Amino acid sequence: MLTLRQLFLNNNAQTTHFPLLLEFERAEGVYIYDEAGNAYTDLISGIGVSNLGHSNPKVVNAVKDQVDKYMHLMVYGEYVQTPQVRFAEKLVSILPKTLNSVYFTNSGAEAVEGALKLAKRFTGRQQVVAFHGSYHGSTHGALSIMGNEEYKQAYRPLLPGINFISLNNLPDLELITEQTACVILETVQGEAGIRVPNAAYMQALRNRCTQVGALLILDEIQAAFGRTGKLFAFEHFDIVPDILLLAKALGGGMPVGAFVAQVDVMSAFKENPILGHITTFGGHPVCCAAGLAALEVLLDENLIPGVTEKEAIIRQHLVHPAIKEIRGKGLMLAVEFESFELNKKIIDRCIANHIITDWFLHCSNSMRLAPPLTITNTQLMEACLIITEAIEFETRAFANLS
Ligand SMILES: Cc1ncc(COP(=O)(O)O)c(C=O)c1O
Repeated sequence: MLTLRQLFLNNNAQTTHFPLLLEFERAEGVYIYDEAGNAYTDLISGIGVSNLGHSNPKVVNAVKDQVDKYMHLMVYGEYVQTPQVRFAEKLVSILPKTLNSVYFTNSGAEAVEGALKLAKRFTGRQQVVAFHGSYHGSTHGALSIMGNEEYKQAYRPLLPGINFISLNNLPDLELITEQTACVILETVQGEAGIRVPNAAYMQALRNRCTQVGALLILDEIQAAFGRTGKLFAFEHFDIVPDILLLAKALGGGMPVGAFVAQVDVMSAFKENPILGHITTFGGHPVCCAAGLAALEVLLDENLIPGVTEKEAIIRQHLVHPAIKEIRGKGLMLAVEFESFELNKKIIDRCIANHIITDWFLHCSNSMRLAPPLTITNTQLMEACLIITEAIEFETRAFANLS
């Protein structure tokens, strides 16, 4: 009889020749457990999803309650579905007042697609400005604005009219003109290896967009919901986007995304022609119920103020000459090493020692640290110790090899 692993390799589509092949049975808090009961500490939160850790009981109960009432009823935007309404109401209540209309999608990439369409539709313009190093998802529109040629060249032709500019480069802002429908930027760039813009740049970007009438889209699909130490990352820069993109932690572990804009902007979808964006499963009631519960836990349990202290613990306890830099904000960090080869060996050794971490798509020499916000200081210190031991072991082995 074939093992589960063999079946996975045979029947489930593979996108690399070296999948991690870890097999897990259950997950709770910051730990994921294998069949033998070994606990792995999840330092990447399923890539920025599990901000509350795994299987938060309030989120799980919200899912169960909603499943008992109804699941899918109708495509998005026709029926008044309580979980969607309550979740949008809560989101609007915590966002600046110009972000008061929420369109729920299935995923982050779909939120990106919807926002790009909305910006074109609202402004009547065709050009888009995006950023070198950016990652916004894997669909055609999202690939078109990806700032890494290697991952997109095989899929051309992509969307025309995209100009790329560099983060923190003020002269580049001149490329945002009266032909620009929108500028799209991750508030903190994730897959580029966690690149944080400076506040003066963000304010100049905001001003330039306002000056030429281009919409500013901030992608907080990875950065929102406390990950950087603020509820939304744009709060660090004292600016407000015209369209905000959310996904990942939005659903508390269930799949849902959103793009949020001012109601007047969103209304562009209502006419000439109607139904400007259509989605069957976007804003699925079970996902919205989970998302609302997750947001309530995040706020009621006051989890965000602890994030800055946890960042300090990592910076204090993860010290080794092989670390070139620790970049980022809050619990959205990148630990940079000399090369991908060394980074990968350290990551593999951490995983062998039951600490789950990862590298970045556009920055392969850096290790991703994005634990659940609920991780305790002690758990974090223990994890830092195991990572440091892995760094020490692998740098010695690496030095002996070369
Ligand atoms: C910043 C950012 N935007 C968009 C996406 C795409 O989200 P999804 O994978 O849900 O389509 C991601 C996913 O990693 C992301 O990190």
